[in-house]
Amino acid sequence: MNPGSDESGSDEPGSESSLPRPTFRFRCIGCAAVALAAAQDFRCSQCGNLLEIADPSWTRASLNAAALKSVWRDRRSSNLPLDVSGVWRFRELLPAPQSQQHIVTLREGNTPLYDLPQSSRITGISRLYAKHQGMNPTGSFKDAGMTVAATFAREAGYRWVACASTGNTSASMAAYAARGGLLSLVLVPEGKISWSKLSQALDYGALTCQLRTDFDGCLRLLQELVRRAPVYQLNSINPFRLEGQKTLAFELLEQLDWQAPEHIIVPGGNLGNSSAIGKALLEMLDLGLVTRLPKLSVIQAEGANALVRTLREAGGKHLVSVQAETRATAIRIGNPASWEKAVKVLQATGGACEQVSELEIAQAKAEIGAEGIGCEPASAVTLAGLKKLVQQRFVKRDETVVLVLTGNLLKDPDFTMEFHRGDLFQGTAHEREEAKLNQFRHPPVVLDATLDAVIKTLEQAEKSSPPQPNV
Ligand code: F0G
Repeated sequence: MNPGSDESGSDEPGSESSLPRPTFRFRCIGCAAVALAAAQDFRCSQCGNLLEIADPSWTRASLNAAALKSVWRDRRSSNLPLDVSGVWRFRELLPAPQSQQHIVTLREGNTPLYDLPQSSRITGISRLYAKHQGMNPTGSFKDAGMTVAATFAREAGYRWVACASTGNTSASMAAYAARGGLLSLVLVPEGKISWSKLSQALDYGALTCQLRTDFDGCLRLLQELVRRAPVYQLNSINPFRLEGQKTLAFELLEQLDWQAPEHIIVPGGNLGNSSAIGKALLEMLDLGLVTRLPKLSVIQAEGANALVRTLREAGGKHLVSVQAETRATAIRIGNPASWEKAVKVLQATGGACEQVSELEIAQAKAEIGAEGIGCEPASAVTLAGLKKLVQQRFVKRDETVVLVLTGNLLKDPDFTMEFHRGDLFQGTAHEREEAKLNQFRHPPVVLDATLDAVIKTLEQAEKSSPPQPNV
C-alpha cells in the first residue's frame, strides 16, 4: 500500500519507484529564509543561523496517518535492506535521495524499549521505560542520523566526510563512510574521549586527528575547514543527521502502540538529538500520528550545563557558554551548536531542563547496569535527572516516562572499571562523598586458583546478597 495516496498502489515497499521524490528544502531556524541548496557549513546565507529540513517528502494533506502506521508495520516482515533499517522504514517522513543506490545503511535503528523494574521502584514511576539507542550498530544513537547524512554526502559526490566529536559521532561517521566508500576525517580532543570510541574510528579506517583542545575547539576548526576544503561536514549541524535521528521517536511511538508517553527525557550535549526528537514529535502531532505531545526534557551534567544556564540566566534568548568539565565525556560540551533549536523544542513541548552532579551520574549509571542493560555515563544523566524531576513534582508518579539511553555500556570501560574499583573520583572534590556509592560497587576479586578459595568467596557473597526476588 502506498501511504501517500488512497489507493492501495502496486509499488513494492522499498522498491525504487515507491521512494518519495526529493521535495525537501532548507529553512533557516532564525529568519525562516528558504533555500533549495545549502552551503558547506549548513548556515543560512542571509543571517548565519542553522538550517533545518523543511517540507520533506510529504505534506500534511498528502499522508494518511492510519495508512502510514500500517505500511511501517508491514515493512517489519520484509527483508529488503531499506525496510530492515529502522530508519529508512520510516522513509515517508525523511528527505528522499535521488537514487536508492546511494543509501548507506548498517541496518540501524530497531532498538529495544525496555522496562526498568528496579529504577521504577527507586523513582516510584511504575511505567518507566528505556529506549536503548546504544543497541545500534556502532553502539550509539548517532547511527540513526548518520545513515541519512552519509547517504546525502555520497549523493552529492563528496570524497571526504568530516566531524568534530566527543567520540560517538566519529565512530559512527567512520563506519558509515567505510560502508559508503567515502574517506573520513575525525577531529577529537586529545585525551578527552574514551579509548573504545577512538579505537572504533581507527578500525573503520578514519584519518583520526587528536587535537590539543576541547570538543568546542574541534568544532570551531571544522567549521573553518569546511569553508576551505571540499569536505562534507557530518556533525549534527548537518540537518540530514537530525532527520535520521527523528526516527527514534517514530519507532518509540510505534512500540508504545502510538500512545504518547507524558515524558521523554534525553541527555543534552551539542543538543542535536533533543532538537531532532522534538521535530519528530511536532511532525507526528501535525500528521495525526499522535493526539498529544509528550514533554521532552533535557538533562545536562553540572559541569557542562550551557543549556541550563542559557534558560535560567538568559531566558533562552542568547547562549551562555561554559568551560565544560565532566567524566561523562560524550557531553563535555560548553558551546552547544543547536542550542536555539533545543530551546524551541523545550518551549513547544513544555519540557524541563535540569542538571545533575558527577556522583548522581555515577549512581544512576550503576542502577541502569543493575537492570542488566547498562549504558555509558552520558546516558545515565536521564535517570539521575528523572529523580530530580520527580522530587520537583514536574513528573508525576502515575505518568509514563521514557529515558533515551544514547550509548552502550561498552563505550566507556575506563569509567566503569574506575567506578567499581572505587577510584573514579580520586583526587577530585567528589572523592569523600564517593564512599556513599559503595553499595553499587562490584569490584573484581583476585584469588588463588583453588576450589576452596572460590567457594569461600561465593559463601561470603551469598551472606551479603539481597533475598531472591519472586519471579
Ligand atoms: N549521549 C551520548 C552518548 C553522546 O555521544 C552525545 C553526543 C550525547 C548524549 C548528546 O547528544 O550532542 O545531540 O545533545 N555526542 C557527540 C559526539 C557530541 O561527538 O559523539 P547531543
